[in-house]
Amino acid sequence: MKVLVTGGVGYIGSHTVVELQQAGHEAVVIDNFVNSSPVCLNRIEQITGKAVTFYEGDVRDARLLDKVFSEHKVDWVIHFAGLKAVGESVAKPLEYYDNNIGGTLKLLEAMKIHNCKRIVFSSSATVYGQPEQLPLDERCAVGNTTNPYATSKYFQERILQDVFASDNSWTVALLRYFNPIGAHKSGLIGEDPSGIPNNLVPFIAKVAIGQLSEVSIFGDDYETKDGTGVRDYIHVTDLAKGHLAAIEKLQSHGVYTYNLGTGKGYSVLEVIRAFEKACGRTLPCKVTSRRAGDIAAYYACCDKAKRELGWEAKLGIEEMCASMWNWQKKNPKGYNG
Ligand code: NAD
Ligand code: UFG
Repeated sequence: MKVLVTGGVGYIGSHTVVELQQAGHEAVVIDNFVNSSPVCLNRIEQITGKAVTFYEGDVRDARLLDKVFSEHKVDWVIHFAGLKAVGESVAKPLEYYDNNIGGTLKLLEAMKIHNCKRIVFSSSATVYGQPEQLPLDERCAVGNTTNPYATSKYFQERILQDVFASDNSWTVALLRYFNPIGAHKSGLIGEDPSGIPNNLVPFIAKVAIGQLSEVSIFGDDYETKDGTGVRDYIHVTDLAKGHLAAIEKLQSHGVYTYNLGTGKGYSVLEVIRAFEKACGRTLPCKVTSRRAGDIAAYYACCDKAKRELGWEAKLGIEEMCASMWNWQKKNPKGYNG
């Protein structure tokens, strides 16, 4: 199938493009490099041995979208393009709503014009807000969000549901990712955050490589197994494969929502221990105060994705940390090192 991948040079997008190409699909990528590097495109080609059809530009650019849809008969769109930093979204809500919601609106308009009505959307566990139960399943309430990034994901899910309600010939997959970490086994592509990472595992990797001095553990007084925050980490390659399962399995029109995680919760301390095992040394850590807005624990029930898509995560925390370390070691300064 021919798949338009917006944001296909980013962290999850690049891993998905690799899996698509390796499974015999053809990826057409749009990215404006707001949070990615052109070097990543070469790396994707190195892994797959295939050229990537690429358009540099913004998904809010209707003329660019018209050109892409005119030049390619697109079977599915996988829509990753968006801004994703929670803290930044609090400081710059308009930028986040404009980019994330504005981008989705323009994309859906272009898809409608060109009669391409199948889309996979990158949603997030963050739409659940404070969990009403654990594990979280797809029927849990959504929308009680705590920052503009999360709210933008919730609104985009609603927009996609409304589009389907207005025209039942759409097929919409809302994939709610839990915490993607790790990197491609080749070590050629991975997460390359600019500046000091906000997220736990990229931060640990920078400590392990010696670029940051110690890991801050944001609170050890939560009601969790060891007092530190618990999350459902998922290997980015497993996550990428979840997208393939969606486009290959979903044949009927409708809106389909799936959690993509492993179903297992790991604490901050457990992740640090797993990373220490991967890199072969003890990492300096200190406990600091809780991070504002953090939730104690959440993890997914992924039974629905298994039942309906035949997909389940295969890689565990050890592989996640080992692949992350492999990528970090080979690319100490990311793509531009
Ligand atoms: P990323 O920032 O690495 O990738 C996003 C890509 O989209 C980047 O290459 C960026 O340059 C591009 N982009 C952003 N706005 C654009 C625009 N207007 N036009 C064209 N390109 C644009 O992020 P990621 O981690 O790969 O996340 C991909 C998607 O998954 C995002 O929508 C994100 O919100 C969602 N998501 C990510 C996580 C996570 O923890 N990484 C969790 C849940 C959901
Ligand atoms: N943490 C630390 N130290 C750090 C960073 C994080 O102790 O330096 C802790 C947090 O308090 C939390 C856990 O590690 O308990 C995970 O934090 P992350 O920042 O890695 O991930 P979050 O679960 O907070 O958020 C991530 C993404 C969101 C996304 C959400 C659900 O950043 O965009 O997962 O998918 F919405």
